[in-house]
Amino acid sequence: MPAKVVVVGSLNMDLVTRASRLPHAGETLIGQSFSTVAGGKGANQAVASARLGADVAMIGCVGTDAYGAQLRDALLAEGIDCQAVKEVVGSSGVALIVVDDSSQNAIVIVAGSNGELTPASLQLVDDVLQAADVIVCQLEVPMDTVDHALKRGRELGKTVILNPAPVSGPLPAHWYASIDYLIPNESEASALSGVLVDSLESAKVAATCLIKAGAGKVIITLGSQGALFANGQGFEHLLAPKVKAVDTTAAGDTFVGGFAAALASGQSEAQAIRFGQVAAALSVTRAGAQPSIPTLHDVQGFVPS
Ligand code: RIB
Repeated sequence: MPAKVVVVGSLNMDLVTRASRLPHAGETLIGQSFSTVAGGKGANQAVASARLGADVAMIGCVGTDAYGAQLRDALLAEGIDCQAVKEVVGSSGVALIVVDDSSQNAIVIVAGSNGELTPASLQLVDDVLQAADVIVCQLEVPMDTVDHALKRGRELGKTVILNPAPVSGPLPAHWYASIDYLIPNESEASALSGVLVDSLESAKVAATCLIKAGAGKVIITLGSQGALFANGQGFEHLLAPKVKAVDTTAAGDTFVGGFAAALASGQSEAQAIRFGQVAAALSVTRAGAQPSIPTLHDVQGFVPS
């Protein structure tokens, strides 16, 4: 039986335009293409874990609009257990995404049904949390729901991962004690620690702050510069495989999902980080959120250039 990864988080329909560059405030740009793609940080991480070998269950909410059924079906097609994906009256979550010619993106999300994932609704699916080996959370659902998931994960003795995305400021101080692996990117690490992360050295300072705050271990993803792993005893800088980027959307989600799947399967932390890095590198060579996420077969066949 593969180990069980349970993701508590968002499902969004991504409305994606490609344009030569990101627009400035007040500017109208002519785009090159438009597509609707299944996304949402929670759902993307669930898909990544499933494609990369884990047995996955998702806890989340979709709306009663057409997107809701499409988002749920996308997870079911990956073999993800969706019994705890509830339909609530109203609109599903959406993300408005612009991707430019240099593969960078800008994203605005509207929570919609993701805002309906309450602590009370998590209590109703506590059996799903109980069956987890690893619980993965992000911040596209209400903060008190994340609070409940982290606390319950700790009570149940599960491995708890928080990808603090998107984040605008410090996390509640009491959260840290429930987090085994905190996985921010550079800007998230800056917002959480108050240290501007713009180099490996500043990432080490920020990671030290986050461990002092109580996080078990910290992995700061550094884009093409790889990842910094800090465990309170020291640091390891793991370089990212070099690839030609087409679209970086969901690269972070692919890393988190891949890391969770590998950790759940018994790989060491360093192996799990490298596995997540290869998966994330492959994801940036393809467009879209969930369509870009590689399979275990893709990762095993990856040959660094
Ligand atoms: O991390 C990428 C995701 O962020 C997109 O799929 C979008 O839905 C937003 O949640």
